[in-house]
Amino acid sequence: MRIKQYLCSGNQRNIMKKILFIGLVSILFFSCQSSTEVSSPDGTLILRFAQTEDGGIGYRVSRDNNEIIAFSPLGFLTEDQSLGNGFCMVGTKKKKHSSVWETVWGEERFIEDRHNELLVSLRHESGMLMDIEFRVFDDGFAFRYLFPEQEKKTLTITDELTAYRFTQDAEAWSIPWRTEYYEGLWQKRNLSPALPSREGDEPTQDTLCSPVTIEFADGMYGFVHEAALTDYPAQNLYVREGALRTYLTPWLREPIKNEELKIKNEVKAYVELPFATPWRFVVLTKTLPELVASRIMLNLNEPCKIEDTSWIRPMKFMGIWWGMHIKTMTWEQGPNHGATTENMERYMRFAKEHGIGAVLAEGWNKGWEDWKHFDFTTPYDDWDMEYLSRLADSLGVQIVGHNETGGNAADYEKDLDAIYRYHEANGIRVIKTGYVAPIIRTVDGLQWNKGQSGVRHYRKVIETAAKYHIAIDNHEPVMPTGLQRTYPNLMSQEGVRGQEWNAWSTDGGSPCEHVTVLPFTRIMAGPVDYTPGVFRFENSIIPTTRVHSTLMNQLGLFVCFYSPLQMACDLPEHYMEHADAFRFIENVPCDWEQSILVDGKIGDFCVFARQERGTDNWYIGGITDEETREVTIPLTFLNNPSPICSTDGHRQSDRAELFTRSREGEKVPRYTATLYRDAEDADWETRPYAYNIEEREVTADDTIRVRMAPGGGFAMELKINQ
Ligand code: NOJ
Repeated sequence: MRIKQYLCSGNQRNIMKKILFIGLVSILFFSCQSSTEVSSPDGTLILRFAQTEDGGIGYRVSRDNNEIIAFSPLGFLTEDQSLGNGFCMVGTKKKKHSSVWETVWGEERFIEDRHNELLVSLRHESGMLMDIEFRVFDDGFAFRYLFPEQEKKTLTITDELTAYRFTQDAEAWSIPWRTEYYEGLWQKRNLSPALPSREGDEPTQDTLCSPVTIEFADGMYGFVHEAALTDYPAQNLYVREGALRTYLTPWLREPIKNEELKIKNEVKAYVELPFATPWRFVVLTKTLPELVASRIMLNLNEPCKIEDTSWIRPMKFMGIWWGMHIKTMTWEQGPNHGATTENMERYMRFAKEHGIGAVLAEGWNKGWEDWKHFDFTTPYDDWDMEYLSRLADSLGVQIVGHNETGGNAADYEKDLDAIYRYHEANGIRVIKTGYVAPIIRTVDGLQWNKGQSGVRHYRKVIETAAKYHIAIDNHEPVMPTGLQRTYPNLMSQEGVRGQEWNAWSTDGGSPCEHVTVLPFTRIMAGPVDYTPGVFRFENSIIPTTRVHSTLMNQLGLFVCFYSPLQMACDLPEHYMEHADAFRFIENVPCDWEQSILVDGKIGDFCVFARQERGTDNWYIGGITDEETREVTIPLTFLNNPSPICSTDGHRQSDRAELFTRSREGEKVPRYTATLYRDAEDADWETRPYAYNIEEREVTADDTIRVRMAPGGGFAMELKINQ
């Protein structure tokens, strides 16, 4: 392909340009050469906007002078024309940006946003105006398309041409794009430029959900995803002709007959101008800890739109939940009904006693018999909402509401205000929403939940909930894209093959490896409601299915899997069988000052260390796959000062002085470390309950060695000695 970088296409040049041609070519060449290129703040990553002879648009990326993304196309196909070529560049603008912002909750308190920006303004031969905004960070790059206000008022997008032509062999962790609710096992696939072209244009099962996490042949890591998904379909990705390409989730037209879904040249998005697409971004790092630490996605989202966020509180919760999945309780009313007033009171008193902030109740409302007409404001007769809401107040233990829609988003949306008013009046501050149905019914009929219509629905839910001071834990969601920065009441989401599969999946439950993949894939896209904390592994319903983990692995998940709403999913009586281990769940926080991946390998193991927000205490968690593993953890991170933001946006530390003094021998901060670890003979299959709890004093100069059993893990609490 011939690439010309700096000139408009022949079709578009007007007469004046022709007259000035010779003189201008050299001026344009030199003046545009710098302006179509933008580098990262540290200068190592360079992105170049480029054009082809026919006015096609694209970009290239290099790091340390090596091209890592070769010319990759940008643009769209619309119902009436191709916006992939025929463009003339009409201007560029550059900007530098550096700021630090404070999160309402998160894996760290402060996030730094340092990037350089290039805005390329384009005019299409049809007269259509389109800008592309590029941002280059030290750890990756992003771009989005902007359609300014202009004569044309609407666009019907049939395809997005965005591609990523990586120059080296790679393998990608991914799940197929039609995986129901994203609840699949992530697999490693070849993503090499050398892969043969596919037959035809139609995405197949080779098409992948976004995000994908990439391991490059040279040891570098990548993460491809989108940010700030708004009024647009979620992206999916597929490999063709050596490039990773975009497949937007289509609109569906009823009636749908499963395999007869038309997926070629169908409508993907209806867009009203002016419009900005979601950001497309790629994280590129040399190490896995840097990949996990990237905050490009959050930085690309808009700042918080909720003025008073004091009601949005991270917390742990328990729930009348696991009982239904292991079939000792039912959602619907009957002899084994889970959500009864009596049972809820028992859970709430247990939560109070053990410092757990809230209790979820599923099956409290009418409609579970047929899943057709859920009523979100009418409890079953054996649920006394008034009494329980008063009890919640007096105990200081919240009720987490549950709104399962059975995929009927349209009906739910119709009554949103009334539903949230009812919950708010009953003191409910968090609602778990659910959309169990492979294709949901939106106001536009049957649709993919991650199509444009579904995306609009989820946004409406978040915005409406915010009006009633309600936070959302969204099950069967569209893949998260960092919206929690703008709406921190979107606290957690499922979109994962979670713990419940280990109760009823006929494939025996998720393999040990599964949990060691998630921190590098799904959880990179945002907080996950995985529901860790199973303490009883025997399964009387499907004896061949079970949680593939030791009890210590379950504890490790509380640190390795991030969610500001963290559910301890098992029954109170199961927790009391191992009350000493349950102490870790009581103590572990779910809101952090800073977070570090200490060590890890995708699909093998990981060890995270996190500092509790607002204190000097640290928590470490480790999990492994079916292999036993010994990890070595130097505690040097205890010296990391809390990153504190000064008014001019620079980092400083109020603890730096303490630590400098301590280095000079005056006072070394000492911590009481409590280690919860697998016993020597522990094994997820044979001895999952074998563990030891040890206590000792440590400083930042110490190194801890922990052995994790097959399917095992560990957890550690480090409390600073006053
Ligand atoms: C699926 C959700 O993931 C699960 O947590 C919930 O219990 C059921 N739907 C019922 O709503």
